[in-house]
Amino acid sequence: MSLTDQFGRAITDLRISVTDKCNFRCVYCRSADPENHKPDHELLSWPELERIARILIGLGIRKIRITGGEPLVRPGVEDFMARLKSLGVRDLSMTTNGHLLADHCDRLVAAGMNRINISLDSLDPAKFEKITRTHSFNKVMAGIDRAQNSPLRPVKVNAVLVRGLNDDEVEAFAAFARERDLIMRFIEFMPLDADRHWTRELVVPAAEVQRRIEARWKLEPLPHERSETARKFRFADGRGEIGLIASVTQPFCGFCSRIRITADGKLRTCLFSKDDHDLRYMVRNGHTDANIADAIRAVVNDKEEGHRINQSDFVPPSRTMVYIGG
Ligand code: GTP
Ligand code: 5AD
Ligand code: SF4
Repeated sequence: MSLTDQFGRAITDLRISVTDKCNFRCVYCRSADPENHKPDHELLSWPELERIARILIGLGIRKIRITGGEPLVRPGVEDFMARLKSLGVRDLSMTTNGHLLADHCDRLVAAGMNRINISLDSLDPAKFEKITRTHSFNKVMAGIDRAQNSPLRPVKVNAVLVRGLNDDEVEAFAAFARERDLIMRFIEFMPLDADRHWTRELVVPAAEVQRRIEARWKLEPLPHERSETARKFRFADGRGEIGLIASVTQPFCGFCSRIRITADGKLRTCLFSKDDHDLRYMVRNGHTDANIADAIRAVVNDKEEGHRINQSDFVPPSRTMVYIGG
């Protein structure tokens, strides 16, 4: 069984957001002002999420990534991942801000998680605190250490670059990838921040990042799946890897293989979807697995061709990143 959309793209990757809460307030994602999180009863329970995941695996989903908010703030996430693993998911991963990772790493490994992506937007503690509006630099570094000393592979580190904020650190991040023998990924800032401060001028193009790193070190392109977010490079003279995620300047929507489930049980076919589709209602109102599978197939068929960030009629989605899960 496989899920395909109207453009012939095979949908094999699922991102499940398990909570809309987060212990950070990154400037490119959340607001400093209070935000309205969903009350607990509006979030899917673990068995409800597992049921939807099982239906989707039956429809051909092969890769599952757990996201948030911050996924490690929801108690029980490891048990949920162990359940997913027992459903036969070979590629099970998480994207986390790293704050709670050192404490949870062993349990995630025991649950059968394969790999992990950790956000780190600055190597300078003061700047890190300004961007994330927390005092967690040391905790996140400890989380990265712990992941590197665990069986999780690969360990990827994500930095969202924002012009004037952390774009002076491109070379330092590249040096960090080399020293620590990890995959450092540079992400273009997308218009999904709660404060709606995004402008094109704040985006640091992947081409610039590549040029600056190549001015210092020779890079060699690595093969990658067409559906992957990152273009990948290794350093010709040694350890470490670079990933460029050029969502704004070189969109990769044409090969997109992803769908998303939000913590409140909505199916989203694109980060930038205008509408999402209410699976929670179906789960809670007596619909059978077959009914739900039919609804999913119909929604996925209509997956949008791509985001419209570069079109003049672009309107950002009402859900910001913390409510979608990246
Ligand atoms: P891998 O499976 O390890 O390649 O991870 P990933 O890049 O798919 O996931 P991660 O959560 O690390 O996301 C890294 C960046 O890519 C984040 O800024 C995401 O928001 C962005 N991203 C992930 N999926 C999509 C997508 O479907 N479209 C766009 N435009 N950006 C995405
Ligand atoms: N643009 C690009 N990436 C973002 N992320 C959060 N907000 C944005 C944004 N506005 C990233 C996080 C994390 C992933 C889940 O999404 O840094 O790596
Ligand atoms: Fe930052 Fe991720 Fe939390 Fe958003 S959800 S504030 S990107 S850590």
